[in-house]
Amino acid sequence: MFSPVTTLLPQLYEKSFNILVVLDYGVLMNDLLAQFRHRDVISMLDFNRDELEFLFRLTDRMLDSINEYRDLLKGKVLAIAFFEPSTRTRLSFESAMLKLGGSVIGFSSEESTSVAKGERFSDTIRMLDSYADALVIRHRYEGSAKLAAEIAEHPVINAGDGRNEHPTQAMLDLYTLYRLKGGIERLSIGIIGDLKYARVVNSLLYGLTIFKPRKLYLISHPLLKLRDEVRRFISSKGLQFEEVFDVNEVISELDVLYVTRIQKERFPDPLEYEKVKGSYRVTADLVRRGKEDLLILHPLPRVDELDTSLDGTRHAGYFKQASFGVPLRSALLALILGGLTSGCS
Ligand code: NCD
Repeated sequence: MFSPVTTLLPQLYEKSFNILVVLDYGVLMNDLLAQFRHRDVISMLDFNRDELEFLFRLTDRMLDSINEYRDLLKGKVLAIAFFEPSTRTRLSFESAMLKLGGSVIGFSSEESTSVAKGERFSDTIRMLDSYADALVIRHRYEGSAKLAAEIAEHPVINAGDGRNEHPTQAMLDLYTLYRLKGGIERLSIGIIGDLKYARVVNSLLYGLTIFKPRKLYLISHPLLKLRDEVRRFISSKGLQFEEVFDVNEVISELDVLYVTRIQKERFPDPLEYEKVKGSYRVTADLVRRGKEDLLILHPLPRVDELDTSLDGTRHAGYFKQASFGVPLRSALLALILGGLTSGCS
């Protein structure tokens, strides 16, 4: 029978990163495939460099020729359990699954489920686990995806657990840096906005502890600084960074500016939000003082922190970034749900 992977592997080999070339390729490929198969995706901290680079190479492949894999996940069902709002993450997971020939079930708000009638989280997860081959979960509570993974037999993917993590967004962000900047190590990166409550920031920083950019600036209002436990952790991993309150001080040095919105819904005290509301804004005027090829990224949605006048400029990478969600998540689902074999055992 035609196996898509027989066409995949030679290409991966040719295009692969050095690590794949210098190690025993067949063994490594088998190991990597085995490491992904049936795996939960709860935290960026669970992934190593080889695995992420492998995922990025397969994402390249999905981006170029996803059609070759259109039957890869035929007969498989993905359950989407979104207890919190989402546009891009949910729809890109759905699109990724459909493009690989699989099907999708699920819900996108708590109100439309029996949770609204008082059903326990664990019962909802148990039921979805019996209907599907993998689960994608978003929930306002930290640790909810981990708990779901303990309950479910099938793989669970964390699509955001409170203010904690959003690992597939970080994978997508790192992939965008590879794709649009050709790598990460040489880059000077600024992350601006809500560093206290934005889960995308935590996951991205955990990912950057692996890829270590040349310079990292964490730019925020004093009340939106990185939480102590995250700061301590990334320091312990040797990630060098500087905390800055005013983006104007560093704009001319940056290759990438990653913008986040203030996570209003996560503030325990509305008065705390009032103090920081509108405290930063990335404008055309600011960007003009940056490098010619400054790349602006944003996980979206944006509110008022990123000027729409930048949308048509060469700096705007955020729509491209969002579009990579489908090939990246296709690659991830293909690896987790199987269908790919190395053919070189
Ligand atoms: C992010 C999230 O949900 O954490 N959105 C996304 O998945 N692209 C960022 C945000 O909501 O600000």
